Amino acid sequence: MATGKFITFEGGEGAGKTTQAKMLVEALQGAGIETVMTREPGGTFGAEAIRDLVLEGTADRWSGMTELLLMYAARLDHVEKLIKPALERGVWVISDRFADSSMAYQGYARGLGADKVKSVHAAVMDGFEPDLTILFDIDPILAQKRVETRGEDLSRFDAESIVFHNALRQAFLDIANDEADRVFTVDAAASRDGVQARILFAVSQKYPELAGKLGSSA
Ligand code: TYD
Repeated sequence: MATGKFITFEGGEGAGKTTQAKMLVEALQGAGIETVMTREPGGTFGAEAIRDLVLEGTADRWSGMTELLLMYAARLDHVEKLIKPALERGVWVISDRFADSSMAYQGYARGLGADKVKSVHAAVMDGFEPDLTILFDIDPILAQKRVETRGEDLSRFDAESIVFHNALRQAFLDIANDEADRVFTVDAAASRDGVQARILFAVSQKYPELAGKLGSSA
């Protein structure tokens, strides 16, 4: 049986990733492809427990390296128990965040450095990478307004300053630039339908056999 594809959604806070990830899952299912949606940190019982540890409390609760190791502990459980088994069954997996978030948040924005993140990544992931990554790019000020308008609780990450969010945005753009074959950048300030059309375009460009099957905008 053909293996499934692993597609990740990345970007800063308030960019609309989660809504769009759900819409892509529906589009793929509509095309007859069995698809599961998951998220990081989290996705499995153990990884969700680590998520609670890492997202609760004040920003200085963990050092940058401790935070990185917690993210990778959660990620390994997620990859071993959910992502790889699904792909092996031919199921497609859409993840709301994955390893690029560790590079952008811990590596760049929190200042741990790209080299440390790369070495932890190589040791833990052993060559496993997403087939396609959709990067949501948006001006952090606009994104913050969206989060406030939605009336959501600000997690400790959202409470970070605008300088942090600008560093984060640049970090994601650098990753997209370095890995242009894998990462497709979408202007997340566009309308919901406009963003969805770009995502469906990216997916059908990568998988031409899906062109015309993912809904009218593809
Ligand atoms: P979440 O509430 O899911 O945020 P969002 O809706 O923006 O994805 O919280 C996940 C937070 O964890 C988010 O602030 C990014 C952060 N994070 C890291 O710092 N490193 C990582 O490796 C991952 C996966 C997430």
